[in-house]
Amino acid sequence: MTEMKPVSEATAVKAPVLPDAQTVTEVKHWTDSLFSFKVTRPATLRFRSGEFVMIGLLGDNGKPLLRAYSIASPSWDDELEFYSIKVQNGPLTSKLQHIKPGDQIILRPKPVGTLVHDALLPGKRIWFFATGTGFAPFASLLREPQTYEDYDEVIITHTCREVAELEYGRQLIDSIRQDEMLAELIGEGFADKIHYYPTTTREESPKMGRITDLLKDGTVFSDLGIEGGIKPETDRAMVCGSLAFNLDIKEILEGFGLREGANSEPKEFVIEKAFVG
Ligand SMILES: Cc1cc2nc3c(=O)[nH]c(=O)nc-3n(C[C@H](O)[C@H](O)[C@H](O)COP(=O)(O)OP(=O)(O)OC[C@H]3O[C@@H](n4cnc5c(N)ncnc54)[C@H](O)[C@@H]3O)c2cc1C
Ligand SMILES: NC(=O)c1ccc[n+]([C@@H]2O[C@H](COP(=O)([O-])OP(=O)(O)OC[C@H]3O[C@@H](n4cnc5c(N)ncnc54)[C@H](OP(=O)(O)O)[C@@H]3O)[C@@H](O)[C@H]2O)c1
Repeated sequence: MTEMKPVSEATAVKAPVLPDAQTVTEVKHWTDSLFSFKVTRPATLRFRSGEFVMIGLLGDNGKPLLRAYSIASPSWDDELEFYSIKVQNGPLTSKLQHIKPGDQIILRPKPVGTLVHDALLPGKRIWFFATGTGFAPFASLLREPQTYEDYDEVIITHTCREVAELEYGRQLIDSIRQDEMLAELIGEGFADKIHYYPTTTREESPKMGRITDLLKDGTVFSDLGIEGGIKPETDRAMVCGSLAFNLDIKEILEGFGLREGANSEPKEFVIEKAFVG
């Protein structure tokens, strides 16, 4: 086994090597603080769309520096996609943001998580509530055939501070709507089930405001033509954002009579943190 060197801004790792090393195949920068990338998929890795894994690089001390990351690609894809923040002083992302195709990252092939279809009881309409990079697990689930087999309507809300931070999600949804391969895989007309609801909080855009406020004052329901709000009999939800966001949405969903579920006990909604802190 050859040695895997730490990535620094100047020297991205080229030499393969740890058993869990995967090769970067594509990198796209969206803003100063957001990028996405693809890596090779370990042949043995099986995961459920919506789950997360630990990924990272070798730290300066030669030990793996790993963080939780939602897999943004669907379970059937040949490659793995990730959607990442760039925290300027972040131990991992201050380095990870410099990766290039051909570099290697560490990927521990042990997927886990609660944002999976198995953790929800059957329903008719599913809501995906995301802020910031919390969009990542839904980028996977929006390309997962089961999402459209299980539900008549799929509502994805994405709240960011600025318009440019919505772009990854917006382009992904556009590409899903036009993807013939997905239509063949999932079924013609599947894209008509998607209702995309982007909002910004600190820059002017067609829909301003926190999704929590827009739910509380009923704007979301009137915009989407939904009568009677969210109902425990028909509606299911998955939530991914900051801790504060998750707590606020949880309160709103519980106010509508939905209960939080888990892999071991499916109910009407599930939650996962997009980051800690
Ligand atoms: C279950 C789970 C799934 C995750 N999935 C993703 C993912 O798909 N994409 C992703 O970019 N991050 C994700 N994260 C966060 C990720 O694990 C790291 O925190 C992030 O990569 C930053 O690592 P770092 O070492 O640079 O900084 P850290 O020391 O890990 O974080 C420093 C600070 O940066 C802020 N921060 C960290 N991550 C984010 C973020 N994603 N958005 C906004 N602020 C953040 C927080 O204030 C945090 O305290 C996830 C975290 C959890 C718990
Ligand atoms: N994204 C940036 O431009 C930026 C720039 C500098 C530093 N940072 C730092 O990076 C970290 C993460 O920033 P982020 O923008 O990715 O994530 P974030 O702070 O969680 O905000 C993402 C979006 O979620 C909204 N939001 C936050 N808490 C909410 C709640 N309780 N209920 C409903 N909506 C809520 C925010 O609205 P509000 O705008 O109303 O809060 C924002 O539109 C923060 O520590 C931040 O200080 C981010």
